[in-house]
Amino acid sequence: MTSFLDLLPFRTIPSSYVLATLLALGTLTLGKFLVKALGVLLQTFVLPGKSVKKYGAGKGAWAVVTGASEGIGREYALQLAKKGFNVLVLARNATALNALVSEITATVPAGKSVQARSLVMDFSKLDNATQWSAFHTEIANMDIGVLVNNVGRSHSYPADFVDAPEEEVDNILSININATVKVTRAVLPGMIKRKRGLILSSGSLAGISIVSPMLAPYAASKAFLASFSAALSEEVKGKGIDVETVNTYFVVFEHVENPQVQHYVPNPEGVRSLGPSSGLLYASSAQKVASSYFYQIGSPCGALWTGRPTLSTPYWSHSLLDWAMNVIGWKGLFGRIAHKTHIDIRRRALRKLEREAKKQ
Ligand SMILES: NC(=O)c1ccc[n+]([C@@H]2O[C@H](COP(=O)([O-])OP(=O)(O)OC[C@H]3O[C@@H](n4cnc5c(N)ncnc54)[C@H](OP(=O)(O)O)[C@@H]3O)[C@@H](O)[C@H]2O)c1
Repeated sequence: MTSFLDLLPFRTIPSSYVLATLLALGTLTLGKFLVKALGVLLQTFVLPGKSVKKYGAGKGAWAVVTGASEGIGREYALQLAKKGFNVLVLARNATALNALVSEITATVPAGKSVQARSLVMDFSKLDNATQWSAFHTEIANMDIGVLVNNVGRSHSYPADFVDAPEEEVDNILSININATVKVTRAVLPGMIKRKRGLILSSGSLAGISIVSPMLAPYAASKAFLASFSAALSEEVKGKGIDVETVNTYFVVFEHVENPQVQHYVPNPEGVRSLGPSSGLLYASSAQKVASSYFYQIGSPCGALWTGRPTLSTPYWSHSLLDWAMNVIGWKGLFGRIAHKTHIDIRRRALRKLEREAKKQ
């Protein structure tokens, strides 16, 4: 009987060889998939990452956290202090920073000596020589073990690039890229001298996992951070310094009462959370995002073997989604979904603005 293999161009090869090759390829592909899946699951749910002791926790080392007056940055600062780092927190809101410093010093675990300091910085003001000189003076004699490049500004609400307010775009690029590079450049030489350090930057689903139409400058700034971290990591890993980007999806903040309604509702400084409706996409709190990261330093989790070096997606639901999206691999489709979502969010945000304008 003629098998379909006999009809193929390589019919001179015995069909048993062809079948064996196909079987071997299939087994290899499945095996690779299973090993990757196991790696992601183990890193996300079981294996701890590196210990923060490596970076000087409890030995007088400092952690510097940018954008620490609220949100995820505030949590990074609180948790680093609990782990035994002295903490320097930077942002614009002096009252919130002072409250954080008081909270840290009041909640230092017994037996630990932790200092906390704050410095008011506006990272959109790249040319403000006075504030940058104050920053350099502040860190001059600090043994900095951890730098958290957390500060990040997004768009008030999604807009086509051509319609996005120029000042907003300039601020996003200044804060997310230029100021972050400036701070890293100031801190890195000391870390190299001491042969230890961790530089962690706050990434985002936008720009790292998916293309984000109508958030182009924000998404591109996060892609910059991922690329910058990956290159820097290679340069300094032989010097005892780890550089990583945390790929955060969405975080719901405690004071946001109804996340579905609140997304992209503009406030004076930008948005609180991005994205469509609630569900797996959301980490339930900044506290959980920060603690999942500190449990898994150095572990890519959902970003494991996805060709994105030094990227970590530690929070469990973000990790599984990031991994699943890479398995599916249809980037164009995710970009189109993001585009539709952003059109809808923009429509709702503009409607809300209109309602508010009528009330006044
Ligand atoms: N929340 C999310 O769902 C989400 C998702 C993905 C990625 N991320 C990233 O995670 C990071 C933290 O996000 P978040 O939601 O916690 O942000 P957030 O709550 O809006 O806080 C931003 C922090 O940055 C400070 N900041 C803003 N503009 C500044 C400026 N010009 N100069 C100095 N400090 C400034 C703010 O303090 P002041 O107002 O006191 O200056 C605040 O402490 C960001 O990089 C963000 O892109 C967040």
